[in-house]
Amino acid sequence: MKQEELKKLVGYKAATFIENGMIVGLGTGSTVKYLVEALGARVAHENLKIIGVATSKRTADQATSLGIEIKALDDVDHLDLTIDGADEIDEHFQGIKGGGAAHLWEKIVAINSTKNIWIVDESKMVKTLGSFPLPLEVIPFGSHHVIHKLENLGYAPKLRMRNNEIVLTDSKNYVVDLYLKKIPNPHELAMQLDQMVGIVEHGLFLDIVNTVIIGQSTGVKVIND
Ligand code: A5P
Repeated sequence: MKQEELKKLVGYKAATFIENGMIVGLGTGSTVKYLVEALGARVAHENLKIIGVATSKRTADQATSLGIEIKALDDVDHLDLTIDGADEIDEHFQGIKGGGAAHLWEKIVAINSTKNIWIVDESKMVKTLGSFPLPLEVIPFGSHHVIHKLENLGYAPKLRMRNNEIVLTDSKNYVVDLYLKKIPNPHELAMQLDQMVGIVEHGLFLDIVNTVIIGQSTGVKVIND
């Protein structure tokens, strides 16, 4: 099966985890796009009543266009479940997110959710995190100094650009990707990045996910932490 088919498989499978009346965090990315598509179909054809909280403007727009009611995070008192994609997941269920520049909102939604599910194709499962560049959301003011400090630490930072323009997040911040290759101790690195002024949030999602749904050429595998 092609990667795109695996994404669709897990996106559609994840939609079956959502029950009537739930308040659901909706992640961002090319895999979540299929989840939202499947949810839209359930809302239209099964009369499913849910409230979605989107982790990006992209997801909010897609969900609204399919008739899914979207509320702001501060307009709900809890989240039953959040379903999101991931860029890498290691053997201990720790992850890297932010390939789509949405990890700040994604993390805020995730930590306020009773349960978190990640949906990935099998290529995202790794032994050790770090092949995927680690995204940081950085405040534009003074960002060159932050990048310089990260260079001195040997973290190989790169300001994310697209079509010769600096990529901006939904909060109008920059994204800096760290080309680390290997992250032997994610908790240690997370603590260090948490303490650096100017970095709003990093893409290490540690001890957050409860269930991972993996699309494999042999079918869907559901693993609980
Ligand atoms: C968005 O910033 C990311 O955290 C995505 O959830 C992650 O990049 C997975 O995206 P894909 O499903 O497009 O691979």
